[in-house]
Amino acid sequence: MTIQWFPGHMAKARRQVTEKLKLVDIVFELIDARLPMSSRNPMLDEVIHQKQRLLILNKADMADETQTKKWVEFFKAHGHEAIAVNSLDSKGLKRVTKAAEAILKPKWDRMKAKGMKGRAIRAMIVGIPNVGKSTMINRLAKKNLARTGNMPGVTKAQQWIKVEKELELLDTPGILWPKFEDPDVGYKLAVTGAIKDTIMNMDDLAIYGLHFLEKHYPNRLYERYQMTKVSDEIVETFEHIGKLRNVRTTGGEIDYSYVAELIVRDIRNEHLGKLTFDYVEDYKEEFDNKDK
Ligand code: G4P
Repeated sequence: MTIQWFPGHMAKARRQVTEKLKLVDIVFELIDARLPMSSRNPMLDEVIHQKQRLLILNKADMADETQTKKWVEFFKAHGHEAIAVNSLDSKGLKRVTKAAEAILKPKWDRMKAKGMKGRAIRAMIVGIPNVGKSTMINRLAKKNLARTGNMPGVTKAQQWIKVEKELELLDTPGILWPKFEDPDVGYKLAVTGAIKDTIMNMDDLAIYGLHFLEKHYPNRLYERYQMTKVSDEIVETFEHIGKLRNVRTTGGEIDYSYVAELIVRDIRNEHLGKLTFDYVEDYKEEFDNKDK
């Protein structure tokens, strides 16, 4: 389902997340491991405030493993516990409970010291559309829960899912919007398929993808399309790929629109390997300045 994020929807989504937050001990902020910055919501820090949080880099199976490791370290260095998971692998998800327990241990110990009885940790999942919130909830619940629809504003009674003895999860996630006002973020979300229905032009997306790949993963790009560089005249590169893959109109001309689609599809379907579009090195400076 496509979400049109109008100001009214944003305000409502924010209100809903704020309300649910009151019910939980910890927030699981789900992000796309291929886009650990671009798939975060711009105002979540403000809403979560002092609440404990675990950053979960989901879809790690599709991301560049070296970058994922660096991102987990990076977040930890900036005060956020983080783990990388693949929600399609239920076994790996056991680490979610363990990580939540570790974060809340000091609080639980304090409660116990005051003579209070221990109880299960209560958590909720928050994230932008398509990061895998429903998938993770269903896998953690070990069953297929009815989808509530991805619309902020679709409400039903909250229910707790018992994940394990130690963890209960709200059955509906908090849905927030991406940072789409930044064009670079928009491109990254669209080229990876993290946002699907996009008004972005396929040619632009393919060109963005080619330049990104040439900068960060040149060998894979050159190997896949048997070339030595992306031409300054981009049409030449499209033509080369079109000829290579024999992408032609019925009249025998190179079908440039189809070439663009093919490039984007290759990226989304991992034909250029596991890719991360937010390079940790590109964000270090910004964060180091923030921390000063
Ligand atoms: P949402 O609730 O946050 O909106 O996301 P949802 O769970 O619907 O997941 C979006 C898509 O991402 C789903 O694909 C889902 O299977 C896939 N997905 C979720 N987690 C992971 C993961 O850890 N690894 C991989 N590889 N995929 C994951 P889908 O239903 O097939 O939709 P489509 O995107 O293929 O159309």
